[in-house]
Amino acid sequence: MGSEELQTDFMTMTRFMLEEQSRCEGATGELTQLLNSLMTAIKAISSAVRKAGISKLFGIAGSTNVTGDEQKKLDVLSNDLFINALKSSFTACALISEEDEDMIVVDPDRAGKYIVAFDPLDGSSNIDCLVSIGSIFAIWKKTSPGPVTSADILVSGQSLVAAGYALYGSATMMVLTTGCGVNGFMLDPAIGEFVLTDRLIQVKTRGKIYSINEGYAALWDPVVTEYIKQKKFPEDGQKAYNARYIGSMVADVHRTLVYGGIFLYPGNKNSPNGKIRLLYEANPMAFIMEQAGGLATTGTKDILSIQPGQIHQRCPVIMGSEEDVRDFLAVAKKHRKQEKEGK
Ligand code: AHM
Ligand code: MG
Repeated sequence: MGSEELQTDFMTMTRFMLEEQSRCEGATGELTQLLNSLMTAIKAISSAVRKAGISKLFGIAGSTNVTGDEQKKLDVLSNDLFINALKSSFTACALISEEDEDMIVVDPDRAGKYIVAFDPLDGSSNIDCLVSIGSIFAIWKKTSPGPVTSADILVSGQSLVAAGYALYGSATMMVLTTGCGVNGFMLDPAIGEFVLTDRLIQVKTRGKIYSINEGYAALWDPVVTEYIKQKKFPEDGQKAYNARYIGSMVADVHRTLVYGGIFLYPGNKNSPNGKIRLLYEANPMAFIMEQAGGLATTGTKDILSIQPGQIHQRCPVIMGSEEDVRDFLAVAKKHRKQEKEGK
């Protein structure tokens, strides 16, 4: 087919979901409906991100524009889009957003069986300077009868049924897993649809890139210091790793998924659990990374095994190519052993 000819058989994300659903016995279509609603919110965010400068969406929420309308900062607008899309999808009973202190309970007449945790616009420090930002979400089922309780919310990442992110980069891409591998969908602006472009993404077993905010080096614990030193000054005659750090988790993790390597946001002296939030940042990314053949750990345990105590809790994050994460774990193990032996 000539490149000028119009495609006539797109594998859109909706079609892909419908096909997956048809293979799954007992599927009701509720997850497809939920993901469709999220997709609409993400398309709207993508459009807002792309024209944010022109629409004066940058800056501080609460300021007024020339016509006297309240201006919404992009992250407030993204949060509203996520919440409105999910509440009106009839598929979710509770929502947890980075932007809201408390869980949002959906009215019973509009509630469905899923719980969704999300960071509607991640990478806040990059919003105003046009560097890639993203949205992240995790989805699991409410299993108990009756009103939503903290026991439904505070579940480990092993309960996730789906997770994904949207990257607003040089193009907009959605990466999704429903527990059967990871697939990537590029937003085709010509038709306004996410089209399957990256089927069953697998992360390389070893990469050549480490990604960490080195500005905190003085606060790192000795494990992180030693691991990063190994990558910069390898003693085994290997080439040193390249450093890349964008400061938007979605972009840093996406690059890790595509090129391989390791992304770290460990704890440090000032913030022992780091910065990344468990429910809507670490868990969904860990689920995706593991589904792509990589690993995701805090340095002492698998991220997906953490039993949360609160909805906004943080956890150290080390994720990426299997061999790279195993190298980190080996350094951590060596230090634990030395500590035990009182060295
Ligand atoms: P945010 O939710 O306020 O945007 O913070 C989370 C972001 C992540 O995307 C990113 O990995 C991290 O903060 C970067 O933090 P730092 O600037 O400390 O390196
Ligand atoms: Mg965030």
